[in-house]
Amino acid sequence: MPAVVVLGAQWGDEGKGKATDQLGSRIDYVVKFNGGNNAGHTVVVGGEKYALHLLPSGILSPGVVPVIGNGVVIDLEVLFQEIEALEARGVDTSRLLVSSAAHVIAPYNRTLDKVTERFLGSRRIGTTGRGIGPTYADKINRVGVRVQDLFDEKILRQKVEGALDQKNHLLVKVYNRRAITVDETVEDLLRFADRVRPFVADTPLVLNQALDAGKTLVFEAGQATMLDIDHGTYPFVTSSSATAGGACTGSGVGPTRIDRVVAVAKAYTTRVGEGPFPTELLDDDGEWLRRTGGEFGTTTGRPRRTGWYDAVVVRYAARVNGLTDLVLTKLDVLTGKDRIPVAVAYDVDGTRHDEMPADQSDFHHAKPVYEYLDGWTEDITGAREFDDLPVAAQRYVERLEEISGTRISSIGVGPGREATIIRHDLLA
Ligand code: GDP
Ligand code: IMO
Ligand code: MG
Repeated sequence: MPAVVVLGAQWGDEGKGKATDQLGSRIDYVVKFNGGNNAGHTVVVGGEKYALHLLPSGILSPGVVPVIGNGVVIDLEVLFQEIEALEARGVDTSRLLVSSAAHVIAPYNRTLDKVTERFLGSRRIGTTGRGIGPTYADKINRVGVRVQDLFDEKILRQKVEGALDQKNHLLVKVYNRRAITVDETVEDLLRFADRVRPFVADTPLVLNQALDAGKTLVFEAGQATMLDIDHGTYPFVTSSSATAGGACTGSGVGPTRIDRVVAVAKAYTTRVGEGPFPTELLDDDGEWLRRTGGEFGTTTGRPRRTGWYDAVVVRYAARVNGLTDLVLTKLDVLTGKDRIPVAVAYDVDGTRHDEMPADQSDFHHAKPVYEYLDGWTEDITGAREFDDLPVAAQRYVERLEEISGTRISSIGVGPGREATIIRHDLLA
């Protein structure tokens, strides 16, 4: 019975939610290990659309235990909004487990996220404004508030005092904002203490015991490799570990217990927010991808930047994550294009780079070296076997597999759970 990590190979929104959901009833536990409600996963089941942010996607399959791991940052108000919205649609959320060591997004961190972005001006990151960066900064700075602190008002007050001490100087003196009081913050956080208490557990213990008992676990990443704090396009990244190592630190499960590392990649590329993107298209093709792919953010509704498939990025993801499999999504979106460019390398100021440049400036200057593959016109949304695909689509997948350095085990041909071609079972 395997432990499988599912993560993003590109800049997010690859379809991780659908990939996790698709494993559905065959999993026992699904664990979110990083990020917070900056994530947005759209899952379509039986024509019904669900947008998930803080809850792991496996929550839609009856019997699965959803776990919010210690590596996640939690906005309690959003958590309960999401729980209520799902319950109203008949989804049972009662099995949810929340790590007592997960950090809480305090209201001042949402404020700071927005204020610092405004202050950065043209150097802004284009964050989701959910308070993610400042909350992880507090964690590393050792002034964070954790879920367990909510159950002792005295300790909570001390921690909030410690955090606000520095932040109010910053807010008032640098950003010209009003000071935030300890009372209002403590009151805000305590609103949810009694509600969250029944879900709180020693999740590293629970997960290790589940592995001992032979259960199947999926670790679902938010964000993606190129947004990872260490391995992404720093500083245009999120503030957590979205790569495979994060599955271990963010859940309390050791690397020797992980069997498979699966990355989800779109058949093209998208990015939300600022930062370098070598294959970005600022022309009609980019607009066509955005329209046919429905490329608008699940969380902020922002139009996503679009571009062709970049094999340098996916090969890099294969390297830093130790990938065993790729899930290729949205192949259907490319239908109708007669020639499809895919980037196989970069040209950086006249020098060819087959590997991701280690230097940030080189990556900013990278121009894609394209190879052109034949397109197809047939509707592929009904394909369920690889052989159902037109020969050009089969060749596209096979070529992507060759240049990406990892086998493509599943292919998405539509948003629905069933619109998938399985070539290798991810749980076998
Ligand atoms: P995530 O953040 O990685 O879970 O991805 P998002 O949910 O933010 O974005 C992926 C979008 O693509 C969602 O709207 C999905 O419903 C949709 N999607 C996923 N796989 C496919 C596919 O194979 N074909 C099509 N057309 N849409 C897909
Ligand atoms: P899922 O899980 C795409 C981007 C933001 C911004 C940068 C930092 O749905 O794939 P943050 O608010 O995290 O500090 O913003 O990261 N970003 C995402 N882009 N998909 C996501 O999540 C993202 N989560 C954050 O747009 O550029
Ligand atoms: Mg998303």
